[in-house]
This record gives sequence, structure tokens and C-alpha cells, in this order.
Amino acid sequence: MEYKPDYLDFIETELQLPASNNQQHLVIDLFAGCGGFALGFEAAGFKTIGYEILEDACATYRHNLPSNCNQVNLTPLSDLVDGATVIIGGPPCQPFSVGGYQLGLKDSRDGFPAFISAVERYCPKIALFENVRGMLFRNKTYFEEIVNSLQQLGYIVEWQILNATHYGVPQKRERLFCVAHKGDWKWPEKTHFHSPYTAGDALGELALFAPANSKFLTPSMDEYVKKYEIASKCINPRDIHLNTPSRTVTCRNLCGATGDMLRIRLPDGRRRRLTVMEGARLQSFPDWFQFQGSESNQFNQIGNAVPPLLGKALARSVKAYLNYIETHKNFAT
Ligand SMILES: C[S@@+](CC[C@H](N)C(=O)[O-])C[C@H]1O[C@@H](n2cnc3c(N)ncnc32)[C@H](O)[C@@H]1O
Repeated sequence: MEYKPDYLDFIETELQLPASNNQQHLVIDLFAGCGGFALGFEAAGFKTIGYEILEDACATYRHNLPSNCNQVNLTPLSDLVDGATVIIGGPPCQPFSVGGYQLGLKDSRDGFPAFISAVERYCPKIALFENVRGMLFRNKTYFEEIVNSLQQLGYIVEWQILNATHYGVPQKRERLFCVAHKGDWKWPEKTHFHSPYTAGDALGELALFAPANSKFLTPSMDEYVKKYEIASKCINPRDIHLNTPSRTVTCRNLCGATGDMLRIRLPDGRRRRLTVMEGARLQSFPDWFQFQGSESNQFNQIGNAVPPLLGKALARSVKAYLNYIETHKNFAT
């Protein structure tokens, strides 16, 4: 039986920032968002430098992390910091949504050309990107093109769909992670396979009350939700169930008044939408992590993020890999 401390204590401890990270490996964090992935790496003792186009997301990164986030529109020619041993990122993938056009790595609206060019020009010992799991299915040919490009740069490429619940995140979030390395990469061991944290563990008492700024569903929204659930043949209402991990947190279901929006059903039957802090907790951000910008921008930052706990599990694997190649010199160039 896995030992399970109180969830808030657990994330507070796991995602504590070390006093100093100046002696540590440098990580280039591309398409950095608010720094969810970066928080995991910083907590594991890396020093990250972010690159992100949105001002509010950069502000959140800088407000909470000891490192800088450069506000920049990344292209394959963007200048980045020298000396990084690791490149991580969450490149947006345009070919998903571009009806008809399959320009792949030649599409300038897509983030992968910038990511691959960064790997080519800055030659990290390891590079790691995150994307939606659908990339492996709906965009398989494009994904293969990306893998092929990284292989041509001399890397071994491996990928896996990881479920965030297995790493202590109270959310059934599945995302594709792809690693370009030089040998002996090991995926992180699952730490919470048998007894995951639940939405109730994360939201605690908050889930039973309506805070002052609560946004309740109106009767017409309730009606809309009901129709949506019938149409999509939901067996259980899509309200948050406190005794299981939550559904995947996305920008859309945190922010938008849609049929699948994340909402809590209060003991008196009213339904309310999640607050920023509740959305952040379901993504494993500790309460000290403060988001900047308008409420909808904050929800977008949260929904887009790699859950920091999952980021840290991957960061530990990266550290083990770097230690291995350090002690087996000439192993990777
Ligand atoms: C999936 S999110 C990354 C989330 C991040 N890894 C985290 O854990 O918080 C992708 C980010 O790429 C940013 N982005 C999109 N196009 C960009 C560009 N051309 N240059 C820089 N950032 C860009 C978006 O604003 C968004 O924040």
C-alpha cells in the first residue's frame, strides 16, 4: 500500500524551490506558458530559462520562479541562451487544425520547426516535448516527420503517453511526451498507481462551499448541461466527483460556459464553476503559485500547463540520465 500524505502538504513539499540553483544544469524551456513544466524542473534542482509569446504567462513565470521568461515570438531563428544541457517545451502544433493544408515542418505557424531548430543549433544532451495524445493518432504522419528530424540530428527518440494520476496529480490527464536522447533514458516510475489523489483530496473543504466570488450556473446553463449529457450519453453527471481524480483540466472546460465545463455540485444542489485556485490545485500547482493577468488568461495558463508534479517526475529521470552520461564520459557527445 502506497503511503499517501495530505495532498496539499505533498505538493508543497515536492514543489519547494531549492535555495539556489545557480550551479545546476541549464534548461531552455520553449513555449513555456506560465511555467508548469519549469516548476517541476526547478523543484528538481535545474535552472530554467523560459521563452513565451504571451505577456501574462511570462509575468506568471517570473513572479513565481527564480528564473527569467523572455517574451518572444519563437521562430526557427530565435536566439536562445548558450550552455543549456536540456531543452524542454510544449510546442503548439498547427497541422492539427489546418483543414486541408499539411505543410508539416514547413508551416511557419507551427511550433515544431522552432523546437527542432533549437535542438539542432544548441545541441542539448537531451530534449523533451509535450503534446496532446491525439498527435500520435490524428497527426501520425507529422509526428513521424518530427521523430525523423530528431533522429537525423543524432538522437534516439522515444515517446510515451503518461497519465498524470500515476505521478500524484489528482487528474486523469493523458499527454504525449517525446524524448530525444543519446542512450539509457528511463521513463519515471509510477508513484501513485494504486491509490491516486482525488479531486476531493485537492479541493478539500472548498468543494462544499461557495466562496464569495463563486460563479453559479444559471438555470439555462443547467438545462444546457443536461441536454449535453443526454446527447453525449453520459452515465454519471459530469460534475466533479470528489472521490476520484478529476477529468482533464483544459482551457476550454475551466473558462468556457460549455457543456463539459468543470463544475462542483454543492450539497444544496447548486452548481458552481471552479475558481482559479481550484483549477490550479487539480493541476498540482501549490497555493503559493500566483497566476497573473485576467481571470480568463489565468485559466488558459492553468489549462495549458504540464502539471508540475509530472514535470518533476520527468525532471528526475532527466537528472538520472545526465548523471549516467556524466559518469560514462564519451557516452554522449
Ligand atoms: C501548451 S502551452 C505550454 C505550457 C507550458 N509547457 C507549461 O507547462 O506551463 C504552449 C504555449 O506556447 C505559447 N506560444 C505559442 N506560439 C508561440 C510562439 N510563436 N512563440 C512563443 N510562444 C508561443 C502559447 O502562448 C502557450 O503558452
